[in-house]
Amino acid sequence: MARKILVTSALPYANGSIHLGHLVEYIQTDIWVRFQKMQGHTVHYVCADDTHGTPIMLRAEKEGITPEALIDAVHKEHSADFAEFLVEFDNYYSTNSEENRVLSSEIYKKLKANGKIATKTIEQFYDPVKNMFLPDRFIKGECPKCHAKDQYGDSCEVCGATYNPTELINAYSAVSGAAPVRKETEHYFFKLSECEAFLKDWTRSGTLQGEAANKMGEWFENGLNDWDISRDAPYFGFEIPDAPGKYFYVWLDAPIGYMASFKNLCEKQNLNFDEYWAKDSKTELYHFIGKDILYFHALFWPATLEYSGHRKPTQIFAHGFLTVNGEKMSKSRGTFITARSYLDHIKNPEYLRYYYAAKLNSTMEDIDLNLEDFVARVNSDLVGKYINIASRTAGFINKRFDGKLYPSANNTVISEIKSAAQTVEEAYSAREYGKALREIMRLSDIANGYVAEKAPWVIAKQEGQDTVLQQVCSDALEMFRLLTLYLKPVLPKLADQIEQFLNIAPLNWLAVSASLPVQHQIQSYEHLITRIDPKQVEAMVEANKESLQASPQPHSEQRHAVHQQNEVKADAVEAEYISIDDFTKVDLRIAKIVSAEHVEGAEKLLKLMLDIGEDQPRQVFAGIKSAYDPATLVGRLTVMVANLAPRKMKFGMSEGMVLAASNELGGPFILSPDVGAQAGMRVK
Ligand code: MSP
Ligand code: ZN
Repeated sequence: MARKILVTSALPYANGSIHLGHLVEYIQTDIWVRFQKMQGHTVHYVCADDTHGTPIMLRAEKEGITPEALIDAVHKEHSADFAEFLVEFDNYYSTNSEENRVLSSEIYKKLKANGKIATKTIEQFYDPVKNMFLPDRFIKGECPKCHAKDQYGDSCEVCGATYNPTELINAYSAVSGAAPVRKETEHYFFKLSECEAFLKDWTRSGTLQGEAANKMGEWFENGLNDWDISRDAPYFGFEIPDAPGKYFYVWLDAPIGYMASFKNLCEKQNLNFDEYWAKDSKTELYHFIGKDILYFHALFWPATLEYSGHRKPTQIFAHGFLTVNGEKMSKSRGTFITARSYLDHIKNPEYLRYYYAAKLNSTMEDIDLNLEDFVARVNSDLVGKYINIASRTAGFINKRFDGKLYPSANNTVISEIKSAAQTVEEAYSAREYGKALREIMRLSDIANGYVAEKAPWVIAKQEGQDTVLQQVCSDALEMFRLLTLYLKPVLPKLADQIEQFLNIAPLNWLAVSASLPVQHQIQSYEHLITRIDPKQVEAMVEANKESLQASPQPHSEQRHAVHQQNEVKADAVEAEYISIDDFTKVDLRIAKIVSAEHVEGAEKLLKLMLDIGEDQPRQVFAGIKSAYDPATLVGRLTVMVANLAPRKMKFGMSEGMVLAASNELGGPFILSPDVGAQAGMRVK
């Protein structure tokens, strides 16, 4: 029976680039959507940029543009990235849309009419210079546990402690640097605490994966708190209808953005919005999300829908996080890779789609992109197994038989491949893509075995064996057609090229029971895919390595920071001279290395403690591990930049920079002063 299905992926924030972590989700969803469409169901796949909130407002301000201009530019960038990765949304919209404004206020009014909104006066940190309330992430200070400086208001990146911003020592606003003050303000709350019975019921209705339902259990045990849904001006978002100066918190209007994007699609395609969102809807609704945003989708969102008179999601599909080479993506290791950077270096998006699919299952487990395995797997499965079937047989059909097929009436390998359709189908449907691909590769092995056993290149040299040759090659191409059909949700572009080569209509699931007929004319075989060269991967990682002394800054500000650094570098090359004032800004000091040690998990860094005549030695991470045994450094004098802004690195704060020389011939060589110099002296 044809089903009507609405599918969403989480809405990416409009303040950063799409990276390989995001792509796990969009590729996972896209494969599922393409599969369901191939099954003949009516599927709408919608998404949008998540555009509201303080970080976006402040970033636009920093760049000297309006938030609208910022989110427009990012929308273009995101759309292009997704299109190139073959993520085919039916609509890619924005939460900053009229549809979303209207839906958000309607839903809020319904929640209010249903008694689910309360107001409460709370005390919050306020920046007296910038005149704005500060989210926790924008308050910094000294960690109350380990006393590391410049830690965020919610957790310490050095010792891992979590705490309230009120506990920070010498707190300051990350926006203006001013000391924040406590200030009272009235906030609007969604009474989630009253939704417990409903949510418990909903959890039990098969809407969640096992692990997610367990998480919900923990949350219920801890008790549900009312949810703060308002923020004070200045805020980039929607003003609350009956509360001037108060705005909806970004997470209120973000999931409503799913509806708004669909609403916009309805306007374009003349679809019935209510058929999909009314309380008694018979359609299906699926949200693909990462495990980090389960709380919003499994608690707030169904409660919001329930008490505003809408249908609830049919299921929430949460996936795990991407690691690269077994570790969190990292700028210093060069594994924080944007979608664009992948395209620049590896070019073919289907390699990544294939690899992710091979790794994905229906659980919330993290998935690892092992770069060596990526190259090996793509080359052996796609090129070595799958494409090989066509590349070893198509030429004979083209050259010897004018491109005409003559399949045999009965080939047991073809029957076996056809009979696997249900296994493949069930695996895709259950989001067990790894299982689907293992089955497809097993079938490819069988098909390759058939070709190897028949050895058409041997038959081709024998007299009077033309019909046999034509049959063997035609059958191999029929196997190839079926495997292409099975792989199509993962490799849509390649499938499209193969459909053209085979001269057939776009493959859907019904085509499993069809066959290439006798005398069918194919096109000439063109080379379809090339192996990945490991050098391309190396170059990509190298290009993404942040310079050693640069700070891995947290969150999506990262990309921008790197961008700015690159700009600074380019400027420095262009400007031939700097003024003496520029130079004297740099506080260079003689430093004595008091201790030097290896840093666990760092490939290039040594941790140095440097005496520059201050009360406390400075901690600096220097990228000199390849050239120096730490023991030989202790007691040596060197030169450091003492007034470089402290930088937070994965391993701790770096409070300066050691000068070292290097080029392609060698290095790094750290600088040493002449005999007689003393720790703390200024270098001028
Ligand atoms: N804007 C919110 C979602 C709002 S949905 C109403 C958000 N945006 S995000 O850009 O941070 O993330 C978008 C999606 O990408 C989320 O589902 C998130 O889990 C996923 N991922 C982001 N980084 C990821 C990895 N490193 N690995 C896997 N998925 C990741 O959250
Ligand atoms: Zn700490």
